[in-house]
Amino acid sequence: MPIIYHEKSRVFHLTNEYVSYILYVMENDQLENLYYGKRIHDREDFSYLHETTWRSQMTLSMPDPSNLSLHYVRQEYPFFGSGDYRSPAGEILQADGSRVSDFKFRSYKIFAGKPALQGLPATYVESEDEAETLEITLTDEVSGTDLTLSYTLFRDYPVITRHSRFTQNGEKPVTLLKALSASVEFLDMDYEMLQLSGAWGRERHPHTRRLERGIQAIQGLAGTTGGAEQNPFIALMRPGTTEKSGEVYGFSLVYSGNHLEQVEVSTFDMTRVLLGINPQNFAWKLCRGESFTTPEAVLVYSDEGLGGMSRTYHDLYRTRLARGEWRDKARPILLNNWEGTYFDFNEEKLLAMAGKAKELGVELFVLDDGWFGKRNDDTSGLGDWFCNLEKIPSGIDGLSRKMEEIGLKFGLWVELEMVNKDSDLYRAHPDWMIQAPGRYHCQARHQHVLDFSRQEVVDHIHDMIAKILAASKISYVKWDMNRYMTAAFSQDLPADRQGEMMHRYILGVYSLYERLIREFPHILFESCASGGARFDPGMLYYAPQAWTSDDTDAYERCRIQYGTSFVYPLSMMGAHVSAVPNHQLGRTTPLSTRGNVAMFGTFGYELDVLKMTEEELAVVREQILRMKKYREMIQTDSDFYRLLDPYKGNETGWICVSKDKRSALALYCQTLNRVNESWIRFKLDGLCGDVSYTVRYSIGEEIREYPAWGDELMRIGIPVKRNDLSAMGGDFVSILYELQAE
Ligand code: GLA
Repeated sequence: MPIIYHEKSRVFHLTNEYVSYILYVMENDQLENLYYGKRIHDREDFSYLHETTWRSQMTLSMPDPSNLSLHYVRQEYPFFGSGDYRSPAGEILQADGSRVSDFKFRSYKIFAGKPALQGLPATYVESEDEAETLEITLTDEVSGTDLTLSYTLFRDYPVITRHSRFTQNGEKPVTLLKALSASVEFLDMDYEMLQLSGAWGRERHPHTRRLERGIQAIQGLAGTTGGAEQNPFIALMRPGTTEKSGEVYGFSLVYSGNHLEQVEVSTFDMTRVLLGINPQNFAWKLCRGESFTTPEAVLVYSDEGLGGMSRTYHDLYRTRLARGEWRDKARPILLNNWEGTYFDFNEEKLLAMAGKAKELGVELFVLDDGWFGKRNDDTSGLGDWFCNLEKIPSGIDGLSRKMEEIGLKFGLWVELEMVNKDSDLYRAHPDWMIQAPGRYHCQARHQHVLDFSRQEVVDHIHDMIAKILAASKISYVKWDMNRYMTAAFSQDLPADRQGEMMHRYILGVYSLYERLIREFPHILFESCASGGARFDPGMLYYAPQAWTSDDTDAYERCRIQYGTSFVYPLSMMGAHVSAVPNHQLGRTTPLSTRGNVAMFGTFGYELDVLKMTEEELAVVREQILRMKKYREMIQTDSDFYRLLDPYKGNETGWICVSKDKRSALALYCQTLNRVNESWIRFKLDGLCGDVSYTVRYSIGEEIREYPAWGDELMRIGIPVKRNDLSAMGGDFVSILYELQAE
């Protein structure tokens, strides 16, 4: 039994082969966390870990004999007004204006499996024996509110998922001002905090800092995961932790709206991690009989460094968060016309590109922005989801059939949550866009956000797009979201429910996704938001892949994909080869490196194939053949190891090793060329030491091969010759090592 309740000592022990998480129902009926970390033996009574001591008369103690002051207790779900002066996980406004609450243990349930979170994305199990769930219900007598804390322990992973559910049973309504998903406390502060931060074009760069007393936090308030700026993830790691060793605790939020990940260190050096929906601009009214469920937090423990943490997230998210037909399938190699044509295309041009793409081995043609309404630039058309027949006389239906005749699958770009003022949709429904009365209509890229908190808006958009998807041969949809939300206000909600709007918006987005994936289960969805601004676990539940960044420069992509890999699997990372000079930053990198980097994701091209030289086309043909050979392994059946950190040095290195360790693909990429420098040994990881591999790579036209033991490759490494790097052109060159067990 992975979840044990010791009735006498009132201790819950969640434990599997990897982790232990120990909770205690204190004398005053509140919950304390006694331990979270590497698995330890079970025992009848862990309550000796509950400590009290006299500290100061300033901090208040409970009116019971324990002399308990919650300010020093590792509370499982702290509330405001208890004598604990750190940030709480919950705060509830009651009918009389009070914000004080006191939740006491009432009951618990332990059962096999993992229930779904209604209307919210979450990890899942495929059979009941994959996980066990503990639900603990606490009650605040005065307001009549119940709080159910939910914990699922996965049998085969060092993973505990948590969420909370509030139910109002009292007569009078309450308003949740803060309702986080989880709070986790540690006894000391000797940790570094890792976060993935960035901006458009440089998403998810890893940053670390030593914990300090006080609050350190990241958050998103832009309505779309918080934009590219802060990914809903942090990790705490012991100083000295590396890719291979050290203790790490990962906290990832399965959510695409405003989020908060906060770490507070008290002056007693205790560390409290809080994560969930950002309380800023959030207030959720609960009337009698109503419930509110928070998003899911996914806690991963690793004592094998950051690499161990990442591989757990990869496996869990790839197989138990992503869903649908495409989850376990290698993804089609695509050509997207965006950087090749931008808005300047017609049917003839698209078909010519598609014809050439087919010759090269491409499988899917993606028609990006500009096919609908009167959209010839970004000032108009969003909201009018019907084909622009001037550009595409055959219609989407006809074009999709022509693509099939060429032998390609066909995909479409949409941006369903948006509207341009210059559109039929806006002219018919000006009140459907998000706007605060009397306030300036802030626009970005000439567009406004539709109020997806309203069912009729979601229904209308659904009907428009479902009509096209049903009438045409469409096997892929790129769902974009190109602006942040401002002046969050819904014309449809009463004053006392305006604080619900931003969360209701995201629930609306999720519900539309859910409807479309149920109606069109064969379609592969890719989420996108001005590049990678909505790259979060919530999206992965609906769309198994996401556009990683608009920045397709090979060197920048090394950094972005390296950072993204801390949490997200390669099967989720949209990675394309684009033209040079690169459209985002003007840099020219070799086609071989652009291809090599894009292979570690869902592979494709984003350029005008008709403008490529014969020599370039030959390279593309080869790249596509190689990707077809390895994509199954890369995307569905491998472990990923980061080897050389581009944020720390002049090189990027990583390797994908098949689960059976019989084959592997490693990338070595140099940033700038250096002359007369030290020797290079590229040390691999994840191989079987006792297996002899054939190592195959090419330097320009020359193909080389040699045998080496796994231990040799991991301990000594591959000698990378500086002369070879220079011969290939020096700057931004890369070598792809293909390893096959002999
Ligand atoms: C966003 C996306 C791009 C492209 C454009 C189209 O910026 O990230 O890939 O689809 O929109 O307008």
